[in-house]
Amino acid sequence: MTRGRVLSVASECVPLIKTGGLADVAGALPAAMAAEGWDMRVLLPGYRGLSARLVAPVVIWQDPDLFGGAARVLGGAVDGLRVLLLDAPHLFDRPGGPYSADGKDHPDNPERFAALCWAAAALARGGGSDGWRPDILHAHDWQGGLAPAYLRYGEPAPVRSVMTIHNVAFQGIAPAAARAALRLPAAAFTSEGVEYYGNISTLKAGLVCADRITTVSPTYAEELMRPEFGLGLEGVLAARAADLSGILNGVDMAVWSPETDPEIVPYSARDLTGKAVNRARLIAEFGLGEVPGPLAIVVSRLTGQKGIDILDRALGGFVAAGGGLALLGSGDPALEAAMRAAAARWPGRVAVRIGYDEALSHRMFAGGDAVLVPSRFEPCGLTQMYGLRYGTIPLVAATGGLNDSVVGATPASLAARAATGVTFHPVDEIALAGALRRLVALHADRKAWKAIIGRAMKVDVGWGGPAKAYSSLYESLLA
Ligand code: ADP
Ligand code: GLC
Repeated sequence: MTRGRVLSVASECVPLIKTGGLADVAGALPAAMAAEGWDMRVLLPGYRGLSARLVAPVVIWQDPDLFGGAARVLGGAVDGLRVLLLDAPHLFDRPGGPYSADGKDHPDNPERFAALCWAAAALARGGGSDGWRPDILHAHDWQGGLAPAYLRYGEPAPVRSVMTIHNVAFQGIAPAAARAALRLPAAAFTSEGVEYYGNISTLKAGLVCADRITTVSPTYAEELMRPEFGLGLEGVLAARAADLSGILNGVDMAVWSPETDPEIVPYSARDLTGKAVNRARLIAEFGLGEVPGPLAIVVSRLTGQKGIDILDRALGGFVAAGGGLALLGSGDPALEAAMRAAAARWPGRVAVRIGYDEALSHRMFAGGDAVLVPSRFEPCGLTQMYGLRYGTIPLVAATGGLNDSVVGATPASLAARAATGVTFHPVDEIALAGALRRLVALHADRKAWKAIIGRAMKVDVGWGGPAKAYSSLYESLLA
């Protein structure tokens, strides 16, 4: 028996399209929620080439003029995932990524994602010809923010809504003059509505209009109510504190398990022999020399959020103490250049791959001794959890979801056999350099190191717990 139907509205979703962790979460939630008895389907923009990947597509909704052109929603499946694709060529059939091309945002992004939300609201009102009407609409980030707003300002519908913040730094800003074009009534343009410092924010629209708000970790839920983290939305969120909760993301165990990962020499907590082979292969693949201390990895977007500049400044002491670094990432050209320069400075000990490579990232988690996540803020973060799974000890800034998923090594937590990683705070190069020194010392203590690997690999980072939390949230909305 299903407990209810949920329409998840997202701008990216594994296995169809990914730029970051949102895609992993949107792609993993439906199966996790199915285990709890929920029928969840994902509504996604039909970016170029995606509709050809739907198995048995059926047209379930049409609109001759959706923000400037004809559109339809195709229902179908991909790898067992139930997907609804918004096929609107004038908005989505174009070169480039989901949000930008050649480093520039698509100029019509407000209309593109408004269209996604308009279709979501129509389906939530029962507009789909397949008879499937959701009980709950679950919108993600600014791209989904207008869906709860269209429900509030349009015809009433017997549907409840949840807005999840994956990253408050992206707020979906559009000029006030776009209001009518975005199909928002004049009455919505107030400080209690979609107005945000004289503009429109589609994220704020979702935050004020949704029945409940979640974010992807308990710590980030609290941080968001402070100006340093809320980035302008702290007041809006504080006003809704009673409806705001943090639910930590999970990891897809089918994809991230060292026992079964096809990319690596398999290993387990009981037998780590394979991990040593993976380490040697990783060193060879990156062209590194001998690394006597911990071999650290970084797999990340290279942006200010991720603290890569802080790492750059703290790296010297780590290398001098015997550490090595293999980094995979892309993003800000200045950070890419800084990391290339670090590799040139310490050949044999620091190596960098600029790019995006899912398979290589698996080999890195298997072969590394530690994974570094020195983020200035991190709503949840997934790579520290992959690190736990692979016994690749996370060294993380004590912020957001990093703070909620890693128990930092201290004399007390080591004595209590609770530590699963190394944490530092505040997020600056002095604290990071200290954490790297503690990592080197921990790694040199063979007994302590083996124990921490064993504990890390036992941490339950699967979707079971988070799915139960979403399930109770949905239940509370339908009660
Ligand atoms: P964010 O969503 O802020 O980028 P997360 O840690 O939540 O951070 O998710 C990032 C996801 O993208 C992880 O699955 C990570 O492994 C992956 N990833 C990031 N950069 C790369 C890269 N260059 N190559 C392969 N995977 C990457
Ligand atoms: C965002 C956040 C990241 C989080 C991901 C999935 O991209 O930056 O911390 O893990 O969303 O929720």
